[in-house]
Amino acid sequence: MGKTAAITIDRMVTEDLDQVLVIENASFTMPWSRNLFLSEFRNKPVSLMLVALAEGAAREVMGYVVCWVFVDELHVLDLATRPDVRRSGIARQLVIAALAMGYSWGARKAFLEVRESNRPAFKLYASLGFAQTQIREEYYDQPIENAVVMMLSTDRFRALLSASVEGWKM
Ligand SMILES: CC(C)(COP(=O)(O)OP(=O)(O)OC[C@H]1O[C@@H](n2cnc3c(N)ncnc32)[C@H](O)[C@@H]1OP(=O)(O)O)[C@@H](O)C(=O)NCCC(=O)NCCS
Repeated sequence: MGKTAAITIDRMVTEDLDQVLVIENASFTMPWSRNLFLSEFRNKPVSLMLVALAEGAAREVMGYVVCWVFVDELHVLDLATRPDVRRSGIARQLVIAALAMGYSWGARKAFLEVRESNRPAFKLYASLGFAQTQIREEYYDQPIENAVVMMLSTDRFRALLSASVEGWKM
């Protein structure tokens, strides 16, 4: 594992959105709008939104993740870290925190889609135990591209949390 930035992870609040949108716009060709994030805040029983905050007094957002949890499934919908702090373990910490919270809500498997060309994200997810399950042809726009569907099995979900969350108990 590479170096790990000292961050704290917290639930996203609407006051974080200005910073989140700067990261979102710098990260995706089809970024989520403010309204889409706001609709997630209203989707309370399902939506799990976390931010990684720099250590210090001000609320400085370094990255975020948005997931849905329904029944026993967690779906990662959006994940990005600030371009100037990438490769310091922030996305890894965000995804593990979301999985730990999702597990406590009942999730036992996790799913996501990633652009076929997005090697950084694919490698991140693979390093956490997600495995490729299928390809969705021409799923994305701008540019048109296949999606790789990845799944974290229940066994790998538990193994990851046992290995990465201090004091984790099933
Ligand atoms: C993908 C993304 C979220 C990774 O964030 P990050 O904070 O840099 O990731 P981490 O530092 O936690 O990396 C963890 C692991 O992921 C893999 N990884 C991350 N970035 C990588 C890169 N540029 N090249 C190769 N592997 C990479 C590595 O295995 C890395 O572990 P290592 O540093 O010990 O080798 C970030 O690059 C990003 O925001 N990209 C744009 C938005 C995006 O693609 N989101 C995902 C949509 S599915």
